[in-house]
Amino acid sequence: MNYNDLVKKAIEAKKFAYTPYSNFKVGAALITEDGTVYTGANIENASYGATNCAERTAIFKAVSEGHTKIKALAVVGDESQYTYPCGICRQVMIEFATEDFKIIIVKNKDEYMVKTIEEILPGAFTIENLKKH
Ligand code: THU
Repeated sequence: MNYNDLVKKAIEAKKFAYTPYSNFKVGAALITEDGTVYTGANIENASYGATNCAERTAIFKAVSEGHTKIKALAVVGDESQYTYPCGICRQVMIEFATEDFKIIIVKNKDEYMVKTIEEILPGAFTIENLKKH
């Protein structure tokens, strides 16, 4: 699956966003090392802090089915703007990112940016820190 296809999957995934509070719908689609694709949408809650972002929905679906190596993840919000992942999602992403992981920040099906995890989360705290102590 190429980036264009992953972007389309992320846009499709937005339709399942549960957003009665913000009405800001986000979709995500990721591809694992073995080529499996998982999608996710944001799921809000009356207790606002219990909300789960689209990216984490997709990542947790993958990891809970045994896929811990993610090669790329596309995220799309409102198609009038580029929606970057929140800080918590960036931290969750780096935990399962392959060496060559790419984050695809999507405005719409024709406009998206491809970035590395280092670009969006420089100086990250990771498992490497824990191995050294
Ligand atoms: N949201 C995501 O799903 N992903 C992000 O990276 C940014 C924020 C969601 C959470 C909430 O449902 C809505 O966008 C407004 O914050």
